[in-house]
Amino acid sequence: MTQSRKRQLKLGIGLQGAGGHWRDPEVESNGAVSIAAYQEYARIAEAAKFDFGFIADSAYITKHSTIPFLSRLEPMTALSAISAVTKHLGLVGTFTTSYSEPYTTARQLASLDIISDGRAGWNAVTSALEGVARNHGHDKLHDHALRYRIAKEYIEVVKGLWNSWEDDAFTRNKETGEYVDLDKLHTLDHVGEFFKVQGPLNLERSKQGHPIIFQAGASEAGRDLAGRYADAVFTSFEDADLEKAKQTYRDIKSRTASYGRNPDEVLLFPMISPVVGATAEEAQERYEEGNQYIDVDYAVKYLSRYFSFFDFSQFDLDQPLPELGDIGQNSFRSMAEYYLRIAREENLTLRQLAYRATNPRGDFVGTAEAIADKFQHYFEERAVDGFIVAGSHRNLRNFTKLVVPILQERGLFRTEYESDTLRGNLGVSFPVNRYTEARNQTAIHG
Ligand SMILES: Cc1cc2nc3c(=O)[nH]c(=O)nc-3n(C[C@H](O)[C@H](O)[C@H](O)COP(=O)(O)O)c2cc1C
Repeated sequence: MTQSRKRQLKLGIGLQGAGGHWRDPEVESNGAVSIAAYQEYARIAEAAKFDFGFIADSAYITKHSTIPFLSRLEPMTALSAISAVTKHLGLVGTFTTSYSEPYTTARQLASLDIISDGRAGWNAVTSALEGVARNHGHDKLHDHALRYRIAKEYIEVVKGLWNSWEDDAFTRNKETGEYVDLDKLHTLDHVGEFFKVQGPLNLERSKQGHPIIFQAGASEAGRDLAGRYADAVFTSFEDADLEKAKQTYRDIKSRTASYGRNPDEVLLFPMISPVVGATAEEAQERYEEGNQYIDVDYAVKYLSRYFSFFDFSQFDLDQPLPELGDIGQNSFRSMAEYYLRIAREENLTLRQLAYRATNPRGDFVGTAEAIADKFQHYFEERAVDGFIVAGSHRNLRNFTKLVVPILQERGLFRTEYESDTLRGNLGVSFPVNRYTEARNQTAIHG
């Protein structure tokens, strides 16, 4: 992070057309597949100077999937269309390392980075649903540890490909006729445990060097991956437990340092759904209104996704859940462990647990002042570096109109973009091309 710059809160939005909010009077019912709805959502965030829009994703549905998953746009396509109507907002998409080719991912993300002039980000995940494997030529999902081993090599390959061209390789000098300096093109020649990729990538670097890397996954292996490679981490927030969030924060920062990286350059972002009201009571009512659209079947289905669609319907809705062993270990492991733990510790019934998963109250239901106070507190206590704000268009409008100005008045959040790249706004330093670095070293030391 640029040392001279004061540490400031960063904000992202969970970018979606509508999904679960399809009945919201302010959006079209087909918002989940309406690029106009995505673009509108992005524009609201950009007008409020948000750092980035974020699209979570996976490639598997069943009849048990809940509405936001059933029919939605593929992130790269959606982000490309959003880039055309925005100028500053970062564009972060989720692309799995488990069932795809690193060359393709490197190229697509680099293209988005060029199209948006340096605003692309990659949320590098390991697929957690059995069905994703079945959609990609496999019968069974790789086990958790293997998925993370593949992810490590995958990210190495992608980063290697993003180093194919040095930054100043393309001279494009019409007078001299020199288009490119081919000495500044480098072949990767990667042969590893899982991938064999020759390279080089057929795309130059962007204004921000290459896309920002996000990571999402909170187990030991997930945090390790974040420490090695991530510029930002999408964290789960476990019902906004401040102490737990601080532990996670310290843990990821210290892992980052242990890999010889600057811990200030990995930023932690939980996703939350703030609900603002003129009074605390009004906010609570609005939050409860949100619950009225969620029937219990929907809530149970939503919960079951974290367990790769484990069949919870065999249990009584209003009895405490029985001991369930280690279900979910090969799925969204960290989230599955969390839900099983709170069910046990708080003796929750299936109904209660399902609602906790579907509509977590967190600590962010209240007046604009109260929400701004919480943001400030979590930020100053170093439990987070920022938040990804999710929710309906209406919630986002309220949030930007009522909460953002308070954060700005307090000097916690920007009033103008510092940069036109995502990297510049997040304060993450430019990734010097490894070959340029070597060339410069040789020039200095002879
Ligand atoms: C907060 C959070 C967000 C995630 N978002 C996605 C996502 O958008 N797409 C996806 O396929 N997996 C997503 N994952 C799954 C992880 O990449 C990973 O496969 C899973 O959580 C198991 O790893 P873990 O035990 O390290 O958390 C997410 C996980 C977490 C904790």
